[in-house]
Amino acid sequence: MQVIATIDEMTRFSENLRTRGQTIAFVPTMGYLHAGHLALMAEGKKKAENLVVSIFVNPAQFGPSEDFSTYPRAMEQDLEQCRNIGADAVFTPVSTDIYPKGFQTYVELEKLPHHLCGLSRPVFFKGVATVVTKLFNIVKPNLAVFGEKDYQQLAIIRQLVTDLNFDIEIVGVPIVREPDGLAKSSRNKYLSQQERPHALLLNRCLDTAQKMVEQGETDARKIVDMATGILLSCPDIRVDYVCVCDPVTLDGVDSVRKKALMALAVWLGKTRLIDNRMLVLPDRAK
Ligand code: PAF
Repeated sequence: MQVIATIDEMTRFSENLRTRGQTIAFVPTMGYLHAGHLALMAEGKKKAENLVVSIFVNPAQFGPSEDFSTYPRAMEQDLEQCRNIGADAVFTPVSTDIYPKGFQTYVELEKLPHHLCGLSRPVFFKGVATVVTKLFNIVKPNLAVFGEKDYQQLAIIRQLVTDLNFDIEIVGVPIVREPDGLAKSSRNKYLSQQERPHALLLNRCLDTAQKMVEQGETDARKIVDMATGILLSCPDIRVDYVCVCDPVTLDGVDSVRKKALMALAVWLGKTRLIDNRMLVLPDRAK
């Protein structure tokens, strides 16, 4: 496995593979890898002959009061995990190469960021769209793999690739959960022992919502109220949003027809947690 720090070397590595007719799967990450990332890498390996992973904590996607400086980092462990899963190259650029002095071009979408996480993290998706565009241009993959845990991010990347004519297939991978149901996230590391059990309430809301839908409840308001009630039963939780929305546009819906995305974000102490699930109406009700 090659560890590549410079942009030129990364592009040469990919161009060399592509001139030989080989395919490249790309998994962009911010490191501190966990089983969720490994699932993305495994999917990438299944779908292409070569796997490139990037590890870059992207400053442009953190707001001034967010956790950029404290975001967990574990480069040596991460490289070991990439090696074990059989990555061919890991791209580890430095910030000053990605955003050199004088950098001024950003990628912004007009609609999708104005929902869900974008409302409380106003710079987040501009930073994500910009870095992913740059990484796509540098790594030149045939396909790129993203987790459904960051559902809005995945929707934004799909739209970006369509709008900007990238010839890259975007592959989504289902959320990987801890045995007790908590969605895997690098930020779970921030949770104290006391907070950890409360984090299960997110998945409980989503499960209960699906059960309500299976029992015939289609009123989005009632589903949101149920979830808000569960979350607010914990005094340590502050709700950012609970939403039932269209899976493509992310616009809120009044009722669940066939399927709708339920997404939520909360603050548990100082940790922001997100989770989501597709609510699917049983066949008889569609
Ligand atoms: O999902 C992430 O880890 C990041 O948002 C990404 C896609 C690597 C861009 O920095």
